[in-house]
Amino acid sequence: MAEESGDTDTDGDGELEARLADQETFDPPESFVEQANVADDGIYEEFEENWPDCWERAANLLSWDQEYETVLEDDDAPFYKWFTGGELNASANCLDRHVEDGAKNRAAIKWEGELGETRTYTYGDLLNEVEEFAAALRDLGVEEDDVVTLYMPMIPELPIAMLACARIGAPHSVVFAGFSADALATRMNAADSEYLVTCDGYYRRGDALNHKEKADKGLRGVDHEVTSVVVDRLGDELNHFLGNSAHDYDELIEEHAGASVEPVSRDAEDMLFLMYTSGTTGQPKGVKHTTGGYLSYAAWTSHAVLDVKPEDTYWCAADIGWITGHSYIVYGPLALGTTSMMYEGTPDYPERDRLWELVEKNGVDIFYTAPTAIRAFMKWGSQYPEEHDLSSLRLLGTVGEPINPRAWKWYYTHIGGENCPIVDTWWQTETGGMMITTLPGVGTMKPGSAGPPLPGIDARIVDTSGEQIEAGDAGYLTVQNPWPGMLRTLYQNDERFLAEYWQEYSDEESDEWVYFPEDGAKIDDDGYITILGRVDDVINVSGHRLGTMEIESAIVGVEGVAEAAVVGGSHEVKGQAVYTYVILEEGQGDSESMRERIVEGVEDAIGPIARPEEVVFTPELPKTRSGKIMRRLLEDLASGEELGNTSTLRNPEIVDEIAARISDSD
Ligand code: WTA
Repeated sequence: MAEESGDTDTDGDGELEARLADQETFDPPESFVEQANVADDGIYEEFEENWPDCWERAANLLSWDQEYETVLEDDDAPFYKWFTGGELNASANCLDRHVEDGAKNRAAIKWEGELGETRTYTYGDLLNEVEEFAAALRDLGVEEDDVVTLYMPMIPELPIAMLACARIGAPHSVVFAGFSADALATRMNAADSEYLVTCDGYYRRGDALNHKEKADKGLRGVDHEVTSVVVDRLGDELNHFLGNSAHDYDELIEEHAGASVEPVSRDAEDMLFLMYTSGTTGQPKGVKHTTGGYLSYAAWTSHAVLDVKPEDTYWCAADIGWITGHSYIVYGPLALGTTSMMYEGTPDYPERDRLWELVEKNGVDIFYTAPTAIRAFMKWGSQYPEEHDLSSLRLLGTVGEPINPRAWKWYYTHIGGENCPIVDTWWQTETGGMMITTLPGVGTMKPGSAGPPLPGIDARIVDTSGEQIEAGDAGYLTVQNPWPGMLRTLYQNDERFLAEYWQEYSDEESDEWVYFPEDGAKIDDDGYITILGRVDDVINVSGHRLGTMEIESAIVGVEGVAEAAVVGGSHEVKGQAVYTYVILEEGQGDSESMRERIVEGVEDAIGPIARPEEVVFTPELPKTRSGKIMRRLLEDLASGEELGNTSTLRNPEIVDEIAARISDSD
């Protein structure tokens, strides 16, 4: 609503648009199928018949120090265990074995800074620096199983620190650099994390952002001693971090130059990392991923779905601060020994063709991004990709939110040149890797539908009582058998793990466990699943998952606010935007400064990604007779949609008033 929508029709190629608009299915080009890592549709049956042993295919992509004894242990379901008895190290799998196999000089990470500077780390370079930093972490006191928090933007030191942690068996907890100081403190406290690696700053649209100030402020909110390391990204641009017991990254690397650190053999079920994500309550959930299952699954899906090959230049344009970056910038691609690209900045700096320039310059083979980005590219116009030779691309992917068919077709035509399959991959922080998507060398694509569940994944759509529903009807997505990449539990909170994911549809007495991802979905006659979005209090803004409860608690923390309700309203580019309805305390005027304080309150508690699109002051919220806020109605109001039945409201008259206030502010 707030976004102007003038120039959305972009290519001016009416004929092409018209032809594509009618086309409902697309097949991968023969040239792709011929070279695909997986091209035989027998794989679905093979996995079904051999389940769970089929998952050995994933485990076999890795090198194990000690072979596992059992593929799946389900005695204590839903606390499943995968590849038990096996031992391995994630950094050895991502680095050492490739160096030993002769890939020492192959680029592992190709990084481009926003200002245009580049750095290439070969597998040899990366291994050296990871060992040096691992040695440094150990000297600072980090021991196996200590949680190390990494609060860094898209700079090479982030994956280096992740792999250094993995090498010494210290789980990392990456906190997205865009999150606020408070969000950092909450996560460090929740994980009892005594170590922090951060940086002085980074560039956004040409400006140096001060990150250390945020990190410093965050540390003041941590209730225990913290040892921190600071990477110098900006040189002299900002003064260096002066927080207590802070160490300089470069000095540490220098002191440990040439160090060699044996990778620690970790049990398959040992934690590789923690990742905090939003859920139904105000407290983020610490999703725990393990070494054997997660890494196998990240490698397998990178191989089967992203078709990654060692000789590729592969680019997932996500941020490592989210699960997508963990699985598909760092662990999956590096486990397969390919070249993984990293870009620090925004796609429109200095110009709106920055990404396409990078694709051309680096000869990128595979490109993976979010629908929100595609909708922005579409809005900017096809002239930007047209300025560049994108013919190196072989496969495109999307993740994070539903992609509308129009954006899908734009991506297919203007980025893929009608020659690249698109994988629309549904998955979550909790699933560790992709779950529902076509296999690009096998399946027909249907724009707007993610596709069938991957081989070995038993995803079904059910009604509220758990009964499978007919094709075409909307219902709830469930996963009815376990998979190696699944979260094991929520950090130190088994109870919440059971309550959040397993309670809804499992039958505990008959030991039947059903995972509930809290997404709505429907399935068609071919078994293709279309994701309809979250059914809990989580909203998806630009592919970023935000808890409305977290935002509400930030708003009611602002002085003068009595009550707040937050919902997602539909947004042309972001998918959803944050809409907040606020009741002020008696005598508090709804001034512009109040609005600003609310926005600031949200930014301080979470970060700019949660910034409200709209703050609507209202004397009341629409409530049912039992006093529950009618969120569905607030969503419809935010999205400018036809309103449903309001007769069950205690205060139906408030609806028109809120609607008037929204249109006033447009
Ligand atoms: C949504 C991101 C539709 C979904 C990897 C899920 C999607 C949430 C898709 C997880 C997709 C992810 N189509 N919706 N292809 N992929 N989602 O944990 O609602 O940040 O539950 O993981 O994003 O978000 P998360």
